[in-house]
Parts: sequence; C-alpha cells; structure tokens
Amino acid sequence: MLRRANRYRFLWMGTATLTFFLLCGGALAAQDGSATELRQYIGQQVGGLDKLIVPDDAHLPPPRLPEGTLTNNPLFQNTEAKRYLGKLLFFDPVRTARIIPQYGGVLATRKTGSCGACHLGEFAGKAGTALNFNVGGEGRGYTDAAGNFIARRRARVDILPRLRESPLFPDDALVDELPTLTDVYQFAIGDPGRFEKLPPPGFLLATGRLDALDSVARNVPGLIGVAFNNRQFAGGFAGEIDALPGALNPFNFSAGENVTQLLLDAHRMQDFQSAELQEIPAFVELFREAFPDEAAQADDTGDLNQLVSDNTVLRAMATFMRELVTRNTPFDKFLAGDNNALTAQEQRGAKLFFTPATDGGAGCVSCHSGPMLNKQVNDPDVTGSGQFVEENFFNLGLSDHPLRALDRLARNNPDFIDDGRHEITGLDSDIYKFRATTMRQLKGSGFFFHGNNFTNVRDVVQFFNAGVAQNAVTGAASTFEPRFSHPRGSNSPPGLGLGEGQVDDITAFLEDGLYDPAFVTYDPNSTTLTFQPNVRDLTYSVYRPDLAALGAKDGFMPSGLPISVNDPLSRRDAGLEFLNVTNELTTTVTVDRDAQGREVDVYQITNNSSSVVDTNLQLIVRGLANNARLEDASGITQSGDPKLVVYLPSGDLQPGPEGGDPYISVILPNGVLEPGQSISETLVFSRGAPNKSNLTYSLLFLSGQGKL
Ligand code: HEC
Ligand code: HEC
Repeated sequence: MLRRANRYRFLWMGTATLTFFLLCGGALAAQDGSATELRQYIGQQVGGLDKLIVPDDAHLPPPRLPEGTLTNNPLFQNTEAKRYLGKLLFFDPVRTARIIPQYGGVLATRKTGSCGACHLGEFAGKAGTALNFNVGGEGRGYTDAAGNFIARRRARVDILPRLRESPLFPDDALVDELPTLTDVYQFAIGDPGRFEKLPPPGFLLATGRLDALDSVARNVPGLIGVAFNNRQFAGGFAGEIDALPGALNPFNFSAGENVTQLLLDAHRMQDFQSAELQEIPAFVELFREAFPDEAAQADDTGDLNQLVSDNTVLRAMATFMRELVTRNTPFDKFLAGDNNALTAQEQRGAKLFFTPATDGGAGCVSCHSGPMLNKQVNDPDVTGSGQFVEENFFNLGLSDHPLRALDRLARNNPDFIDDGRHEITGLDSDIYKFRATTMRQLKGSGFFFHGNNFTNVRDVVQFFNAGVAQNAVTGAASTFEPRFSHPRGSNSPPGLGLGEGQVDDITAFLEDGLYDPAFVTYDPNSTTLTFQPNVRDLTYSVYRPDLAALGAKDGFMPSGLPISVNDPLSRRDAGLEFLNVTNELTTTVTVDRDAQGREVDVYQITNNSSSVVDTNLQLIVRGLANNARLEDASGITQSGDPKLVVYLPSGDLQPGPEGGDPYISVILPNGVLEPGQSISETLVFSRGAPNKSNLTYSLLFLSGQGKL
C-alpha cells in the first residue's frame, strides 16, 4: 500500500516523480513498520531519542558560565520581552552609528547596516553571498522569476576607490579584537555583478582592515541552535575563559552575551548606539518592559543610560539568539512518531547518517548528534545539569576563506592560514580545528564550512565520502581528523566509499528532511519562529498599539528605518523606493497583431548607460487613451502611495507616477541589466475601436522590486 505522504508528493510533482516512483517502487513504499524500526535504531545510536528532540522554549539549554556550570544570574535569563526587543535590535540599522572618518569610516554609511545585514533568514541566518558586508555594503536581495530569493549584498562601488587610497590602521583599537578584515576585490570595480562569485585571491587589494567596509573573513554560520553551544564562533572565541591566550571575556559572560558584546564592537555599534536608541520612544518603552529593574534605576536617577546601554542591548540580543531553533522539520515530525514525515529516500539518508562508519554507514552521527546535530554522541549533555564545555572542534583539512589573503598581507606572512581553535587556546593540538555546525536548514543556505568551501550540500557530502583534504597544509597537520580521512578505520582506504545513490540519499535527508519553512516565512500555527521580523512583529497598529502611539510605523523597524539594511539599492530591493531609469534605456519597437486582432508591441530594451540597472524593471505605460487596455499588465499604479518614492540617477527626488497607469513588472535576468545588455518585452493591447493610429502612449521605466 502506498504511504499517504508519497501519494501527495506524486500528485504534486507530476510525471518525473511518477517514473522514479515506479522504478524504485519497492524501496520507496516503505512500510510503517520500517519507519518505526528506523526510529528505534536512531534512538539506539544516540543514547535515546530524547537526545535529538528540540525542547520547547522553557526547556532550551539555559546559559552556562565559561567553565560550563549553569548560572542563576538573572542577567542571563530569557524573557519574552527581552526576546522581542532583541529581535528588533538585531535588525534595526539605526544602531550602526559608530562611523568615524578618522579611522576611514564613510559617513554616508551610517545607519545602513545591522546584524541582519550578514545574517539573513532566507539563508538560515547566513549571508547567502561569498563575502559578507555590513556598512559599506549595498543591496539585500531580489526575488527571481521562479520565486527564489537571491542574495546580492555587495560592496558599495563608491567606497572602492577610497579603500585603494587608504593606509593601514594597525592601531585602530576600536575594532581590533575580531578577525574583521575589511577590504574588497579590485576586479569588482565597475563590475559589481561579478562580486557574488568567489574570485581568485590574487585580485585582493593590499590595504588591510578599515572602517569603511565591515566584512568578516569567515563564512557566516547558520544561527539555528545558538543556545546549544557554550562556545561561539568557528574557533570558539566567545564564551571562553578569559585567561586563555586568545579569549576576550573580561566579565565572565556566558557565550550568548559574550558573542554579542564582541560583535557590538566589530560591527560599528558600541558606544554610539545608545544615544540613537534613546531618541526613539518605542524602543525606550521596549527597554522598560524588558529591563524593569534598570528602568526603575533610570527613573530614580533620571539617567536613561542606566536603562538603554550597550549592556542591556547585548543581553536582549543574546536572548533573541538563544531562542533561534527550528522545531517542525520532517525529521522532527518523524521523531515525534509521524511515519510519513520523511520520504523513503530521506529515511535511507537518515539511516546512513546515523549508522557508524565502522558499521558500513556514513558515520555523520559521530560529530553531528544532539537536537541541532552538531555534537559528538558522547559530548557532555547540554540539557543535563553537570558541566558542559564544547568538545566538538575538528580539522577536516579545509582551505581558507578567500578574504584571509588580506590577513596574510597584514601579518606579512604568505603562509598563514586561519588556525581556528588554536588562535584561542594557543595549543598545538588545536591547530586548524573548527567547531562542528548544525545540520538544520542547510537547503539553499548558499555556502558551507568556515572558509566558504562549497556551495551546495551534495558537494559537502561527497567531500566527506572521499575523505581527502582540500588543502595540503591543513591536511598534513597532526590534527587532521582520522574520523574524516579514514572513517572506516586506519587500515581501510580513505573515505566512506559510498555510491552516488547513497550520496543522493544523505543529501535528500539533509536538504529536505531538516528544512523548516516557518523559519523563513511566518506561519502563525508553527512553534518555529521566523528569524526575520515578520508581520506579527511589525504590525504595531494591531499587536502593539502602544508602540504605534509612540511613533512605530507598521512594516518598519522602531526607528522608522527598513528591516536589516538601509541603502538605496536595499530600499529598491525592498520595494520602498524606485529609480527613474528612463533616460538610461533605449528602446526599439516592432508592432504586430495577435490572433485575436490585439496590438502586440514587442520592445527591445537596451541599457545604454555606463551603469548597471538594478532590481526589477517596472515598465509603466502612460497616457493610454481610455478605451485601450494593456492586457498583460501586472497592475495599475496608485497615486499618493507613500511607499512610492522615485529618485533620478542624480539622487534628486522626483514625484512618483500618477495613479491609474498600467504597468508591467519585468524580472531582470540575474536581477540586473548590464550596460549594453538588452531584453525583450511584449506589450499586448486591446482597444474599443479597431483604429491602430489611436493607440498612443509613452513609457516610464523605474527600477525597483515589488508592487507599484
Ligand atoms: C559583516 C557581517 C556580519 C555582521 C554585521 C554580523 N555578523 Fe555575526 N557573524 C558573521 C560571521 C562571518 C561569523 C562567523 C565568525 C567566526 O566564526 O569567527 C558570525 C558569527 C556570529 C555568531 C556565532 C554563531 C556561531 O554559531 O558560532 C553570532 C551569535 C552572531 N554572529 C551574531 C551577530 C550579531 C548579534 C550581530 C550584530 C551585533 C552580528 N552577528 C553581525 C558575520 C557578521
Ligand atoms: C569528525 C567529525 C565530523 C564528521 C564525522 C562529520 N562532520 Fe560534518 N562537520 C564537522 C565540522 C568540524 C564541520 C565544520 C567545519 C568548518 O566549518 O570548518 C562540519 C560541517 C558540516 C557541514 C557544513 C555545514 C555548514 O552550514 O557549513 C555539513 C553539510 C556536514 N558537516 C555534513 C556532514 C555529513 C553529511 C557527514 C557524514 C557523511 C559529516 N558531516 C560528518 C565535523 C564532522
């Protein structure tokens, strides 16, 4: 008998799946019995199924002090008021206010970035781009014709020449302590579209780290399961015992608070954000709710700094991040007893994942166990009451992040490679070791491993299957992990030797079995919360009328700025404003008629300027006589829409189009129209009277995504 889930899938996916289904019918039509057996088997491998189940908010791992003990300190307690405030802080660009020209900061980048500039919900909290950019970056992403969200944050072109001229600032104590290398690729100048691709390190500029552009020389990790690690960052920098050579935790904070504290400094917020936040009544109110004791102190002394400070900011954000989990993936449902939640292929992949390599499986479980699938099976239990200190750092023989080339220049050491855990502990036994990461929400998250070493999950699985180091130096180090290179034992050949079909099965389990759409798209019925601020968070007029009364505008951050990023390209990506590019484009038109006698005007539209036309092209048909209709219109412009702000390329503001004109939203290939590039667009008109010469109109081209 077919399982119900399979039947749905086959109805959904049509004939390709049907053929596949018939070919593999026996294996796919797994019986309920085998799902139950698999569940039991997985439980045996990890010491009980409860080791894999994501707890509810009240039972998420509580914060621990650096030495691993639990803390009752109210400083670290999670509350809903702190979480909501922390979320809004994380995404509000108002906080990136520490832009200091003396250190190379560019004032135009003030309040253009946020934590959310590099941590995007669509990419599991990763950046989704090869290089991550906060201030000094522009754009967020656009939705392509197939409905996929494509990240495109990139370095601002106007900042590139400044960087070339700037000297090194080795004494800039403001941002020194993190591996924050700020620089860009020479070949990106004049060719921003290519910025998304991994360039060869040879193209790097040699200026070192500057405040003009905030970029970190590691892949941005997925942020799911922050609470499950008491060391943060790939080398375990944050939450560490301060006495360690590479640690910086003078207040003995737990990992969540320490990581946020370090990042306020790295990401242009510390010392400057409080003054900005204190000016925003809705934020002050949220701080009052989240920190009643501090609010009382501030009231007593009349000093708002006691309530709104770097300290309260970092505590609220740590709470927000501690509650980032996914709970309703097919795998979670399977663990909870739903035999149809995983397809037969995903079940085969799960079986391989959880079977030790010495028993013929893929052995992933040995480093990817626990609810977030990022612990070793016998690591001390994060949910238990004993000590818990992170053990899961390994050297997989990986290559370095491309931006580290700058590190080599700054150190004047061409052989330096990001040494991971070693940088923190100073121990030779830790060289090139990096923390094992979560397996949740990998699908579409763009880049994998600390060095951006792969761009799709299957390639990662194949890398583990081969067991061969990517880099000669890290692969030759004494720390190179035998469980990676010789998972079946030292006398066996390297790698796992799995077949292509088995690699596919593991990939399917990781991509689809561990993906939860509610982390990306708001689902009021899900116990998984969206990472990005959602309609529930930001519709103050309905859910928080008190904040609305204090000036919070629906759909925007409490500061009134857009979510995450606030540069012109990002605002166009978000459909908040448009650029009039009519003069940048030239058109030729061929007039035809279709079978129904309607006029069909086929336009060839060419970018005749020297700059890229970004985002979608909104093609507005103006002055069309009353009895004619644009049949293939995407919509009709509305007059007086406050969202519709139109700029000229010069930066001057122009009144938006009047209401009532039909328009077509054209999704550009790769989100851009390069100089010299053309696209073709067809306009279909029907008219009351069949008099061709009556059809007159003019075209206005606006660039920007979303509805007009
Ligand atoms: C310029 C891009 C950028 C910005 C802005 C940024 N991050 Fe990150 N974030 C990264 C990168 C890259 C890493 C990985 C660094 C490492 O492992 O050393 C990271 C790591 C982290 C981690 C550790 C996750 C883990 O699993 O170890 C947390 C937590 C985090 N960021 C939170 C924040 C917060 C809070 C902010 C705002 C204050 C912020 N980030 C701003 C790029 C950024
Ligand atoms: C010996 C421990 C170990 C084993 C075994 C292991 N992993 Fe990992 N895995 C790691 C570490 C460590 C990282 C992070 C390395 C880094 O970023 O430098 C990682 C990262 C990953 C990532 C990248 C996640 C991301 O978001 O970047 C994937 C995917 C992955 N592992 C899948 C697997 C699969 C599939 C298997 C089994 C075939 C497996 N791992 C076996 C230690 C291990």
